[in-house]
Amino acid sequence: MNNSIDNLLHETRRFEPSAEFRATAVASADLYARASEDRPAFWGEQSAELLHWHKPFTKTLDWSRAPFATWFEDGELNVAYNCLDRHVEAGNGDRIALNWEGEPGDSRTFTYAELTAEVKRAANVLIGLGIGEGDRVAIYLPMIPEAVISMLAVARIGAVHSVVFGGFSADSLRARIDDAQARLVITADGGWRRGKVSALKPAVDAALAIGATLNEHGEPGPTTSSVESVLVVRRGENEVDWFPERDLWWHDEMAAAGEHHEAQPFPAESPLFILYTSGTTGKPKGILHTSGGYLTQAAFTHKNVFDLKPETDVYWSTADVGWITGHTYVVYGPLANGATQVIYEGTPDAPHPGRWWEIIQKYRVSILYAAPTAIRTFMKLGRQIPDAYDLSSLRLLGSVGEPINPEAWIWYRDVIGAGTTPIVDTWWQTETGAMMISALPGVTTLKPGSAQVPLPGLKIEVLDDAGTPVGKNAGGLLVVSEPWPAMLRGIWGDPDRYVETYWSTFPGKYFAGDGARLDRDGDIWLLGRVDDVMNVSGHRLSTAEIESSLVSHPRVAEAAVVGAADETTGQAVVAFVIVRVEQAGDLRQEADALAAELRTHVAGQIGAIARPKQVFIVAELPKTRSGKIMRRLLRDLAEGREIGDTTTLADTQVMSIISTNIKA
Ligand code: PRX
Repeated sequence: MNNSIDNLLHETRRFEPSAEFRATAVASADLYARASEDRPAFWGEQSAELLHWHKPFTKTLDWSRAPFATWFEDGELNVAYNCLDRHVEAGNGDRIALNWEGEPGDSRTFTYAELTAEVKRAANVLIGLGIGEGDRVAIYLPMIPEAVISMLAVARIGAVHSVVFGGFSADSLRARIDDAQARLVITADGGWRRGKVSALKPAVDAALAIGATLNEHGEPGPTTSSVESVLVVRRGENEVDWFPERDLWWHDEMAAAGEHHEAQPFPAESPLFILYTSGTTGKPKGILHTSGGYLTQAAFTHKNVFDLKPETDVYWSTADVGWITGHTYVVYGPLANGATQVIYEGTPDAPHPGRWWEIIQKYRVSILYAAPTAIRTFMKLGRQIPDAYDLSSLRLLGSVGEPINPEAWIWYRDVIGAGTTPIVDTWWQTETGAMMISALPGVTTLKPGSAQVPLPGLKIEVLDDAGTPVGKNAGGLLVVSEPWPAMLRGIWGDPDRYVETYWSTFPGKYFAGDGARLDRDGDIWLLGRVDDVMNVSGHRLSTAEIESSLVSHPRVAEAAVVGAADETTGQAVVAFVIVRVEQAGDLRQEADALAAELRTHVAGQIGAIARPKQVFIVAELPKTRSGKIMRRLLRDLAEGREIGDTTTLADTQVMSIISTNIKA
């Protein structure tokens, strides 16, 4: 990693904002000065300007119970009203909110008036099912308009959504349902992915059947989960099993629901959603976000970082709603700002590798927000593919989820952005709720490969192990030193884990888990996770979670998982596995078959995104005298490097045994 950062810091290309861009830029340099005078007051001003408060707040930040913050605590608002009704009331009901593109090429369009009407009906459906303020609703849907409609309907009635990415398995879904005690699941029969319908409902059926007794027809008996009903959107038109005591078709319920629904205000600190993310232990953390502060920073960053002109821009974030980017920059930020956006159901290569560029041409997309893995994949395929489309509508490009290397940055700007568009590399996390580090287009001189500077109103530092700021031209650990409006309010049901995970490394400061380096100008370069969290294609995976899945396989005695550098996906999951002795058999012959079986096992238990790229069957794992696995050494092996310092190993021979196993 150190070699690569030294290379990165030799990157000298700089891109000044053009005079033309600067002339109409939304952001201005004075935001920084205004914000640093009084951060909470700055956020208060932004919130009052960007949102509609049914009851205005008189307080901004309360940090007296740190690290539990409240923002705008005595104010009241309705998040969905802010994203919908108020735009209609302001005369913008005919503006397109969503241009939805299905993978096979079908499409649907919703104006703000139409989207508001759908959400009102959906809110009435939820109320009809007995869902009320504070209740949790699990959403397990493909990227279809109903995903956005469901989230907003839940928010509208003061309930709490927990969106579970459609790529997660039945087990993962059930664990999330149980942790949040969800009363309702909203799902679909299936959705389109890679040219075919991928079923979703069977995973919900399987999730809810866990622990249930089956009746004589093989149907789950009395439910053992917290779920009372399952609402099913028809999308894939695939055959699904049906449990009449529990399952309801979305379209039937929507047709029967009333069209009137007046949005009620809720306190600013009402929980808005829980989103599960991988941490350093096997159990995913339910990251809790609340309403007023979250929406303030979502709207502020979406407007200023994307230079949003809602009357003329067409914005497209390629993220799935199952991830935080899909929450903040598909649903809440863009809709709070009255943006027109594109959402796309499928994969970038279906039915052909030019799909994204075709969509940009079709809708005249002007702002594109994507992940470096996708950019690097397109780079490999060659510029002839995007060059075949008219991308002249693009005027700003964004990047998120993992560091973007300078080569990919330059390619993105030259090939996709006609050599002229600014690129904003935005660093943030599920926990931060909204962007934290990014250039401001029209203000900042851009540096390929660096996320650059904290956004106005945020205090971010790089510290050494003792907690001292490192100063320019040095590396350390990234922290957020002052509370911010969109910060997580806790881990669902586990306040101690919240304090321990984020606030105990450096008391009073939020430790993000990322390493970073400041360059000579003080700009921030992200170096990846310093904990046992991997980042594969911009998605977070926990080594511990995959290890515990591996050891749940009857043939596995021990497992160690590392994220090894990968040219395209940033990191790739590589597993080292020790097989149970009594089951070992002739390992050499069987190793390939067993490795394949274990890869499938992990995909089945957690979801396809967690499937290891490689599984090595080994005789030993490198451990310290206290028994801790030294993943650093395994990473050296997986990345084909010289093995680093082995002096702290209990058995210093072990690495040569493992390398022999791997080469065998
Ligand atoms: O390691 C950082 C990386 O993604 C992690 C957060 O993952 P998640 O909560 O899934 O959210 C991803 C989308 C916001 C961070 O700890 N990360 C995110 N954005 C960047 C990044 N690393 C480098 N540069 C970025 N722009």
